[in-house]
Amino acid sequence: MHAALSEISLLLADESATGHLAAALAPCVGPGFVVFLSGDLGTGKTAFTRALLRALGHTGRVRSPTFTLAEPYNLSRFDLYHFDFYRFSNENEWRDAGFEESIGGDCAAVVEWPELAGPGLPAPDLWLRLRTAGDDASSRIVDVLAHSVRGQTCLSALSDTLARAAPAGVGCWAPSAPPSSA
Ligand SMILES: Nc1ncnc2c1ncn2[C@@H]1O[C@H](COP(=O)(O)OP(=O)(O)O)[C@@H](O)[C@H]1O
Ligand SMILES: [Mg+2]
Repeated sequence: MHAALSEISLLLADESATGHLAAALAPCVGPGFVVFLSGDLGTGKTAFTRALLRALGHTGRVRSPTFTLAEPYNLSRFDLYHFDFYRFSNENEWRDAGFEESIGGDCAAVVEWPELAGPGLPAPDLWLRLRTAGDDASSRIVDVLAHSVRGQTCLSALSDTLARAAPAGVGCWAPSAPPSSA
C-alpha cells in the first residue's frame, strides 16, 4: 500500500499560476475545511485566497483582512472566514477576538499568519508555505502540506490533476533540482 501523500512542492510561475492552484484545490474546500497560509508579506497569501473565493463562486470584492482580522463570505453551500493574524502580538488574541467558534466548526477557514496565533489553533487540513523563487519577481515556490486525512485526499486529487493536465505555469519543484516552470 502507498503511504498517504502528505506534501507536494510546486513552482508557480506567476500570479495566474497561483490562481490555478487555488482553483485546483477549491473542490476540496467545504464546511469545516481549514487552510493555513504561511509566507512573508507579498508572497501571495491574499492573492491565493482571492482566487480560491472566486473558484468557490464569490463574485464580489475580496479585501485583505490585515486590519479587520477577519472577513466573512457567504458562499452558496457554506460560509468561509478569511483571517489574517499578522497584527497579533500574543497567542491568545485570536481567542480574545472570539474566533474560536469560526475555525474548525461548520465554516471553512483560510488563515494568513497562523503561526502568530500559537499552538492552540486547531490543526489545518492543508498548510501552504509560500516563498519567492530567486530573482524572478513573479515566481513563487509553494509547499502544500496535508495535516489531516481530508487534506491527504485533497493532495492526492491535486497530484492526479497535475499528472493529467498541469495548469499553465504550475510545475513540480523538487528541492534538489533547480526551479523549472511547466
Ligand atoms: N506567483 C504569484 N503569486 C501570487 N502573487 C504574486 C505572484 N507574483 C506576483 N505576485 C504579486 O505579489 C503580491 C502578493 O500580495 P498578497 O497576496 O497581498 O501577499 P500576502 O497576502 O502574502 O502579503 C501581489 O501584488 C501579486 O500581484
Ligand atoms: Mg495578505
